[in-house]
Amino acid sequence: MKEIKIESTLYVYDSMDELSEEIRNLMRKAIEARNKAYAPYSKFNVGAALLLDNGEVVTGNNQENASYPSGLCAERTAIYYAGATYPKSQILRMAITAASQNQETTSPIPPCGACRQAVAEYEVKQNAPIEIYFMGETGPVAKSNSLANLLPLIFDSSAL
Ligand code: THU
Repeated sequence: MKEIKIESTLYVYDSMDELSEEIRNLMRKAIEARNKAYAPYSKFNVGAALLLDNGEVVTGNNQENASYPSGLCAERTAIYYAGATYPKSQILRMAITAASQNQETTSPIPPCGACRQAVAEYEVKQNAPIEIYFMGETGPVAKSNSLANLLPLIFDSSAL
């Protein structure tokens, strides 16, 4: 028996003000998307913005449903739209922000496991890392250099 340690590294910016202009603009697009989320049940609005290598920015937000499991997270709404619209483009970065309608969310909210799996598919497909930036409504912004860094023991097509 041997022990295997798996490490992830995150970089944390004190606030949006510390981000480069380009990333701050991407986060602003995620905030705009978040403000248009359809989240009447959870009252938890999430927005995501993707920067593609063709310069396009694709956004998405969570879309809930009275049949709860039929809803979709912001990250998957955005990345599936990107995959459907620009199938040949690479995704360079993703900005994510989440805000509760009940209280201020002040710490970075990471993407859920299902969204990590969905984003991982595109990272593997394009064979290049997708930078992930995530934050709450205010406060620090966390950055991961790749999706793989957020999803240890990734399951991908190499297993099939
Ligand atoms: N949600 C997202 O949009 N992204 C995540 O990564 C986590 C959760 C949404 C789903 C649901 O509409 C609400 O947040 C509460 O879970």
